[in-house]
Amino acid sequence: MKRIGILTSGGDAPGMNAAIRSVTRCAIHSGMEVKGILRGYQGLINNEVIDMDARSVSNILGRGGTILKTARSEEFMTEDGRKKAFETVEKNGLDDIVVIGGNGSFQGAHIFWKEFKVRTIGIPATIDNDISGSDYSIGAYTAVNTALDAIDKIRDTVTSMERIYVIEVMGREEPFIAIRVGLAGGAEDVLFPYNEYNIEDMCEDIILGRKIGKISWIIVVSEGVASAPSVADIIRKRTNFSVRPIVLGHIQRGGAPEAFDRILASRLGFNAVEALLEGHTDAMVGIVSEELKITPYEEAIKKDCKKRLLNEKLYKITKVLAT
Ligand code: F6P
Repeated sequence: MKRIGILTSGGDAPGMNAAIRSVTRCAIHSGMEVKGILRGYQGLINNEVIDMDARSVSNILGRGGTILKTARSEEFMTEDGRKKAFETVEKNGLDDIVVIGGNGSFQGAHIFWKEFKVRTIGIPATIDNDISGSDYSIGAYTAVNTALDAIDKIRDTVTSMERIYVIEVMGREEPFIAIRVGLAGGAEDVLFPYNEYNIEDMCEDIILGRKIGKISWIIVVSEGVASAPSVADIIRKRTNFSVRPIVLGHIQRGGAPEAFDRILASRLGFNAVEALLEGHTDAMVGIVSEELKITPYEEAIKKDCKKRLLNEKLYKITKVLAT
């Protein structure tokens, strides 16, 4: 009987539990034995392995976070740490591991394969949606909705008090959340990496806007480009207007996954089990244009040019609609 492990790694994302549930039940359905590895790669190093059955994943489909817990393991980045992790794989007789996580998690899985031939299949789960080989990663759209809900509420004060609000959203290097909440929340502007338009241009636009009667602004900042307090300071100094910074932070990672993410997680869990039954390894399952796609980790961790192009297109629409 094949025995697989499941772990969640890196930043938690809403829908990770739905993926754990799907992998566990699909694997059991296919006659496999399932072990849960707690705290991601760190738990693999420390041999934190638990038995899983169909009932271990009851009532978690709609819960945020991850029942397996997650971590960013610095020890796994060392060869010695990976050696210890390999010993756990051997000790528990794990044939394959399903790694639910993002970019860093897949980099780790790839090195693990190269050094110790540990077989893994990845499921993309990160609110950043910064992985190539899948149009969406689990949790990203729930995070957009969470940030949007906050921005809709902030708008009431923005318009009542006629101020400029600078709202920072998560996204490390990729502005998936910023671009979407900018468009869906009717922001006046979005600051994000790889855009030529900069803060100085924006201050000039604000001054011009005031002259023609515009009174309030919502500016979304993607964390990869600057922090909300620093952007707010610059705008205040240049324009002399009332400006408030808001950092939405980790609320974007929490909460119940939206239907979209539950469905995505359930599909990818199913696909991951199929992929490992077919003998795939060192690769990630994803959905591209509604079709299953298996992408080697080496490709998955590269920047996705198509996603960047789409971001730029959506941003152009935001600017037109903000006039
Ligand atoms: O990768 C998800 C993410 O939330 C990023 O958007 C953010 O930059 C980072 O994780 C924050 O990490 P941590 O929770 O470790 O502070």
